[in-house]
Amino acid sequence: MTDSLTVRDNRTGQEYDVPIADGAIKAADLGKIRTDDDSPGLSIYDPGFVNTASCRSSVTYIDGEKGILEYRGYPIEQLAEKSSFLEVSYLLVHGELPTADQHQQWVHDITFHTFVHENVKTFMQGFRYDAHPMGMLMAGTGALSTFYPDARNISDPDVRYLQIIRMIAKMPTLGAWAFRHAQGKPYVYPDNDLSYTENFLAMLFKMSEQKYNADERLVKALDVLFILHADHEQNCSTNAVRSVGSSQVDPYSAVAAGIGALYGPLHGGANESVLRMLRRIGTKENIPDFITGVKNGDERLMGFGHRVYKNYDPRARIIKKAAEDVFEVTGTNPLLDIALELEKIALEDEYFVSRKLYPNVDFYSGLIYEAFQFPPEMFTVLFAIGRTPGWLAQWLELVQDKEQKIARPKQLYMGDRELTFTPASERWA
Ligand code: ACO
Repeated sequence: MTDSLTVRDNRTGQEYDVPIADGAIKAADLGKIRTDDDSPGLSIYDPGFVNTASCRSSVTYIDGEKGILEYRGYPIEQLAEKSSFLEVSYLLVHGELPTADQHQQWVHDITFHTFVHENVKTFMQGFRYDAHPMGMLMAGTGALSTFYPDARNISDPDVRYLQIIRMIAKMPTLGAWAFRHAQGKPYVYPDNDLSYTENFLAMLFKMSEQKYNADERLVKALDVLFILHADHEQNCSTNAVRSVGSSQVDPYSAVAAGIGALYGPLHGGANESVLRMLRRIGTKENIPDFITGVKNGDERLMGFGHRVYKNYDPRARIIKKAAEDVFEVTGTNPLLDIALELEKIALEDEYFVSRKLYPNVDFYSGLIYEAFQFPPEMFTVLFAIGRTPGWLAQWLELVQDKEQKIARPKQLYMGDRELTFTPASERWA
């Protein structure tokens, strides 16, 4: 067996041998296929990168058919159960689990960098009273590049490390301040006696009490949610981080681009739609009618189906369990019963089974966030905080990858050519 592809160009009758490595051919090799020396080489047309690998990566593995998700080779189920968000962040960024000393240093470094420059606060306060927190987070992250101009030295490993620490540390501070801003409440400074996730909850909800004490079960549930969102290989926002980062801009600007991508409803916003859907269904009795509507193509069962997972999204299973833990503290949400019943019916229904439609990560996450009393606008901010180490691990991989180049896709030009320009004075005469 030869690891190559033989391509016959029926326009010319010529055959080409294209090497196959790691299950892929190089698009540039197809560029050698041309009808004559003057014509452009063959290119690949792939809007949405449906079947184009943009990089080699060792960060995250997904097998969508089997419902497998692994960070650096470790199954997500084990990490969610036995690790913490900061340890998982270390794993993603460094590629391996920390020793006790490395972990202590990592947690110390991140805790040490949770504060932001006072002018960042002034900057955040400049937003309109009803500014969307995701827009504030995106702008705040981009603005950090002006506070750390050294960040542009991306070829220096120490400089890179410092920005990674700063960004993981400061994202909850910016996210919490964006939340408080919309409520007209004073911003709360970080409390470095608290753990990463406890401190985030304190910055969100602390009022006049001396010390904010969050329920441990809520802290754990939110930490697990951060772990579940920490990376998902080459999704839209990670691709944005890599694409912008390929210009060798500083990582704050690259991550701000990722936040912009996540802001969009096709990426970070489906859990909000799930809540709206559950509210509209209202009672369990209305579920059969709703399902009939879905099967007739009137609407979609939100929180079901995934481009990659053709099996139960492993994150959905873990979130379902986390939801139970949260409701133990906050009291149950009546929408949960509808969600459970919907899931039960859909998983037995031929329409969903034959199309391999299973609950995705968003089916239960909105319910949990609502139990925490987050408004829907905050859902993507939580996603962004969790995704930050993943974006940074991918960015680090990009800047160290000798095969990477500035991201610059080709196009198939469909417009006019060689028109003759008539000046405006003549055209409008
Ligand atoms: N409800 C009903 N039918 C569905 C659903 C759904 N949620 N999802 C897919 N289908 C059907 C489609 O109608 C199609 O049926 P057909 O073959 O009879 O035409 C078939 O299943 C295949 O669907 P596609 O749209 O081709 O699948 P694609 O991979 O393009 O879409 C997507 C994936 C966008 C996630 C889709 O399943 C969907 O819209 N789900 C609901 C929204 C949602 O939950 N999004 C969150 C995704 S997770 C995340 O982004 C973090």
